[in-house]
Amino acid sequence: MSKKPVIVFEGIEGSGKTHHLNKISKYLKKRKLSFIKIREPGGSLNSEKIRKLILNKKSNFNKNTDLLLYLASRSENIDLLRKYYKKRIILIDRFIDSTISYQHYGMGVNLNLIKNINNHILSNFKVSFTFLNLVNHKNMIKRLNLRKSTNRYDNFKKNFYNKVQKGFIKLSNKNKKKYQIINSNLDIKLNEKLVLKKIEKLIR
Ligand code: TMP
Repeated sequence: MSKKPVIVFEGIEGSGKTHHLNKISKYLKKRKLSFIKIREPGGSLNSEKIRKLILNKKSNFNKNTDLLLYLASRSENIDLLRKYYKKRIILIDRFIDSTISYQHYGMGVNLNLIKNINNHILSNFKVSFTFLNLVNHKNMIKRLNLRKSTNRYDNFKKNFYNKVQKGFIKLSNKNKKKYQIINSNLDIKLNEKLVLKKIEKLIR
């Protein structure tokens, strides 16, 4: 029987996290392995409603409201996540590290506030492994320009994304064994192979 880890894909805009997550979900489907896949914000019905509210370009919430909305969207996912925890492989497009990197390192929201609410919502639900996708600013902009639609979080200044990406790296450095860094400025096919090899190990 294969293992049922919780695997998160993180990184700033245009870093390729969703691409790799989609590749892996196709691979799992092909192998007929049961898994669930969600994104944050979003994932469940209520959480998708909150996503629309936060990321709408006409919204202009302050940083604490944003934090509370991101956490509210997580809170709406937790029943689903708990239901399948350790029973199915769980793939998540953004999770706790995004909250700490964007809201704390990027926007300066108090770290303990984030951790306290997060711990309260998640309690014993734990991430097993994270793929952290890194991208330079030039490639990030190039990829954002190719998107059909952008959202409220796609238009911050370069310095903001720098702070957020550094935040992600800081978090990964605290527990290196649980992270795989993907340099998304390099060849995408090579990166796909790297991710797949690691996934095979994680579920074996
Ligand atoms: P994406 O799903 O298209 O990557 O966009 C989601 C945006 O939400 C992205 O800019 C990161 C941001 N975000 C936060 O700021 N905090 C969070 O906790 C999460 C999950 C996402």
